[in-house]
Amino acid sequence: LFGFKTNKVSGYFNPIDPSKEDKLILPPNFKYDVIAAYDDIINQAGEKFGSGSDYNAYFPINGSNTRGLLVNNHEYTTIFQIGPVVDDKMTAEQIKRGLYYQGMSVIEVYRDEQGTWKMDTTSKHARRINGFTNFNLTGPAKGIAALGGKSVAQGTFANCSGGVTLWNTVLSCEENFEEMAKAASLPETHYGWVIEVDPFDKSYLKKHTALGRFNHENTAMGLAADGRVVVYMGDDKKDACVYKFVSKGKYNASAGRANSALLEEGTLYVANLKSGKWVPVTLEEVKKSKSYTDSADLQKKYQSLGDVVTYCQEAAKLVGGTPTDRPEDIEISPFDNTVFIAHTNNDSHGNIHGHITRIFEANNDLGALEFDFEIFAAGGRQSGFSSPDNLAFDSNGNLWVVTDISSSSQNKGVHKSFMNNGLFVIPTSGDSKGQALQFASAPVESELTGPFFTPDEQTLFLSIQHPGENTTDLNYPTSLWPHRPGDKIARCGVVAISGFKLG
Ligand code: FEO
Ligand code: CA
Ligand code: CA
Ligand code: CA
Repeated sequence: LFGFKTNKVSGYFNPIDPSKEDKLILPPNFKYDVIAAYDDIINQAGEKFGSGSDYNAYFPINGSNTRGLLVNNHEYTTIFQIGPVVDDKMTAEQIKRGLYYQGMSVIEVYRDEQGTWKMDTTSKHARRINGFTNFNLTGPAKGIAALGGKSVAQGTFANCSGGVTLWNTVLSCEENFEEMAKAASLPETHYGWVIEVDPFDKSYLKKHTALGRFNHENTAMGLAADGRVVVYMGDDKKDACVYKFVSKGKYNASAGRANSALLEEGTLYVANLKSGKWVPVTLEEVKKSKSYTDSADLQKKYQSLGDVVTYCQEAAKLVGGTPTDRPEDIEISPFDNTVFIAHTNNDSHGNIHGHITRIFEANNDLGALEFDFEIFAAGGRQSGFSSPDNLAFDSNGNLWVVTDISSSSQNKGVHKSFMNNGLFVIPTSGDSKGQALQFASAPVESELTGPFFTPDEQTLFLSIQHPGENTTDLNYPTSLWPHRPGDKIARCGVVAISGFKLG
């Protein structure tokens, strides 16, 4: 029995065993409600819930823990949305559906008298944001030649994880955008950014180029000791880097959403894990590299900071960023300002089970330019988890970690003992520090994504992403989760987990 205590909630749960069942399994005394699943109608206009549910963020309405807006990211489509793709070539109809079902949903959710979480489709805020929604570009790459001189970009897709800003908007991350951009003949430089959305304001849609263009996983925002805004970001690609953006100006709590301008000007840094230094990813630093000096092509390519943020993955390596094993979610510990990074895995280097890296900024200052680090937890048999992905803290310093063992590796070889993907609780201090205890087991060929607590920690929102994704024949789906009566397909979606007891 694992003692589970937060400042607001205490209780216990019996860690569950790994499972291969096509179910979302929770410890005894916990339950879940499916709030929304793929293709459910979300509003009076008849818009549909998207596909590939990932990040969640809950915004209370009038301070409520039982009614609010839930923002959900939609990362990609599977055979259940667009059917089989023949010869890797999507048809016009498949492209249209791909652009429609990716992006984000804003839905209104509430807990009814019986304690069941539901979606309120009469909501005036509920809406879709997708591959057809226009975004205003901000920052150094806005209007540059590499972006075709544009200051507006069509749409967002491949929305993976994200983060909530200090001014209560959502940042959503465009991750593996290349395939969709290519299929839809959209200009690739318009994607791979961090976008900002205000769940309560339909007209507020931005892409912040100062935060760099790469395969963004999520954002973790905090404040430097001097009040500048700091945003940590991972680039989920093999041998890619860890970044932090530090704003030029300082955060002003009374300015509310106007603080968003801080994300338009500042310095993007990349981590050099050997020197323990954050290196600026700027034109000046790029120019210092030997490769730049030696290459007429690079000299032509990098003319401005806009070019540097646009070709960020290459620029980061030029200035000395350390290649790492697929940095996914990053979270800042609310207790000691240490920074946790899920390095999910990298089979190119034999890091099969991944690890969680913990960064100690100099003087615990998020604005510091020097750091030290440790491997906080290593995946594998001893810890009981493999391939960490999204991270979330509860108010007692437990790290909630979901895993992303690829569907093709699950339940075989060295991944056998882990069975389906799961959700784990890892205390970051105390007697059980670093021990992973399994809280949930995912349906077949899915991963659990986007864990997010309500402010009172009585409810945990969680997405079920790509159940049955290895299905090749729609007559024989490998998963039918959430097992709606008569339903012939698996549906990704979002659930609300209840059962956390008041302390
Ligand atoms: Fe979309 Fe890196 O997971
Ligand atoms: Ca992820
Ligand atoms: Ca992943
Ligand atoms: Ca995934």
